[in-house]
Order: sequence, then C-alpha cells, then structure tokens
Amino acid sequence: MNYETPLFFHVMEYADAADRDVIDMVSGNPDWQPPDALREGLREYADLEPDRFQYPPSEGLLELREEIATRRGVDADRIVVTNGAGEANYLAMARALERDSGDEILLTDPVYPYYPGKTTMLGGTQSYVATDEAGQLDPDDVRAAASAETAAIVVNTPNNPTGAVYPAETMRELVAIAEEVDAVLISDEVYDHYDLSGEFASALEIDSDHRVVTNAVSKSMAVTGVRVGYAVFPPGLVANAKSRHMLVNVATTRPGQYAVLKALRETGPDYYERNRQRLRDRVETFTDALDAAGAEYTSPSGSFYVMARFDGYPGTLENVERLIDEAGVAGMPGEAFGDSRTEWLRFALVTPCVEEAAERLARYFD
Ligand SMILES: Cc1ncc(COP(=O)(O)O)c(C=O)c1O
Repeated sequence: MNYETPLFFHVMEYADAADRDVIDMVSGNPDWQPPDALREGLREYADLEPDRFQYPPSEGLLELREEIATRRGVDADRIVVTNGAGEANYLAMARALERDSGDEILLTDPVYPYYPGKTTMLGGTQSYVATDEAGQLDPDDVRAAASAETAAIVVNTPNNPTGAVYPAETMRELVAIAEEVDAVLISDEVYDHYDLSGEFASALEIDSDHRVVTNAVSKSMAVTGVRVGYAVFPPGLVANAKSRHMLVNVATTRPGQYAVLKALRETGPDYYERNRQRLRDRVETFTDALDAAGAEYTSPSGSFYVMARFDGYPGTLENVERLIDEAGVAGMPGEAFGDSRTEWLRFALVTPCVEEAAERLARYFD
C-alpha cells in the first residue's frame, strides 16, 4: 500500500536546509507562550515519585477526563485522551469504518491532508464535497453526496486551510445528514480557541449517537509537542475506540496529561483572548501587505492561516521551494489541500515576522 504522507515535514525540512534565512510559515506550530501553569506542571512533575512515571490508565488520567467532561458537558466515560487531535481523528475514522455501514469517508475540498492519508491507511475511500470561495460548506451539497456507502463525514471548524468557521445551522445539518445515512459526523475542532468571528458552533451542541468531536490543547495552549488531545464518542462507539487506542499506543504521555490538567484548571480566559488578539493583529498586518502587493487572499474567520494567490505563480511544491530559495518565505502549496486551491499558497501566521514576510513577498512578486 502506498500511504500518502502529507507534505508538511518535507517542506519544513527543505526550508531548514535552505542556504539563507527563511521565514517559516509552513507549520501550525505557534510561536507564543504556553500558559504558565503548564510549564509549572511539567516542572513539578520532574520531582514526583517513581510510580508517576509508570503507565497511566490507557484511556487517560481520570481527573483529566473528568475536567474535560465537565467543561464539555458530557459523561467522562465517553472521552478518550489521545496523542493529540491527530490520534483522535484516526480513532474516530477507524471506528466509523468498522461499523459496517459503508467504507466511504466524505471530506471537503480543500481538505486538511491528513484526513485523506488516514482514509487510505484505514482501507476507506475518499469522496470530496467542494466548499465555496469563502470555505463555507453547503449542507445540501453534503446531502447530495452522502449515501448508504458513507461511513463518516469529516469536517474541521475553524478550518485549516480556509479559515472558515461553520455556523450552528451547518453543524446541525451535518449531524442530521450523518443520522439519515447511518454515518458518523466527525468534527475536528482543534482551532476552537482561535475563532476570530464569534460564530463558532461545536458539534457537541447537537446531541446524537452519530457524531464524534475531536480536539486537543496542541493549538489552544501552544504546545503541539506535548501531544494531549481527546475524542468524545457516543456511548455505543466508545469501547472499541478505547481498545484501539490501547492496542496502538498503550497510553499517552502521563507528564503531559498532568501539566495540561493543571493548565486547564489555572488558566483564565485572558490567556486565550491575548492569543486571539495577536492573531487578529497578524492577519491585519499580513493582509494589508498582501493588498499592497496586489495579491488575492482569504481573510480567516478562525484558525492560523491565510491563503494567497499571486498571478502566474500556482501553488505547486516546485513554486514553494522556489519561494523559499528566492524570497526567503516558506509556505505550503495549495495543491497539498486538494484540487480546488491549486493556484494558491497557504501561509501560517505563527511567526512574529509576518510583516517582513509580506514585504519579501511583495518585493518578489513586484
Ligand atoms: C485540522 C487539524 N487537525 C488536527 C491537527 C493535529 O493536531 P494535533 O497536533 O493535536 O495532533 C492539525 C494540526 O495542524 C490540524 O490543522
């Protein structure tokens, strides 16, 4: 089997190896601080007794699951703590495919490339529903594409790469469609703390045996390297997901879970608001400069990403590598996100150098 390995690490390595200074706008790695309580939790952990360095419960530390359960208004039994949203999505997709209710995974175009990669790995088949120019998904298009063959509909809001935030009505309809065709709606909400629009609606708001919500603190606490996420399953689907998690991973990081629990308890809303404000400022700075450069671009309602289109410079891997070498700015090729954005490049606003990056782009495309 030929797995489709997403291109992110390839482009990051190319940028690292470049012969010049490069502004990294490839990855979704935040450059801002984690909460103080998270650092304190990791420090404290180093001095705990040897038993705390042994296996935690496979499904996650009970106190962490209870903390998440309280915040999300669900029963703790339905939560599996995972190695980030990445594993949560994998467990959810695997669980949907093993229900014997179809082997098709309905995805959006553009798409976060790990979803089609996981689909192939799990023996499913991909189908795509196009979003509109703003990245919004029309539930009627999803309904038209869904059938008895559909095992899961996988969506991501706020969205990578489009920056779209789906309204509550869309989320309600998506859950309803999953129910109609006996599929599972999987809603990846890893950017929920970066809703810049106030319109974000979690799929958790719609109670259903046909939806799984995945999330992580990777982005919300600026710790993509700590690897703590979770999935909320319907009661009837959770047992197998816990078994798969155990068989694949045994468990996930115990120090990480401890520090995340402390940070969840002790971090106030101002931490998250500061991070949103920083992102708003960067979006403005970057898009102002893109305006000056005469580029077309997306203004995100959420997540970290701006997509831009420069005349005569399609979003191929080759052009991304040329931009690294010749302009000193590293982005992602639009072609990595499906067929609909092949003319575009994606830039992650996770560097303090967004203004300099935009100026470099303006000079290069002048
Ligand atoms: C849409 C989406 N889902 C999941 C992930 C992975 O999250 P985690 O690092 O928590 O596994 C990312 C990371 O960029 C993402 O953009």
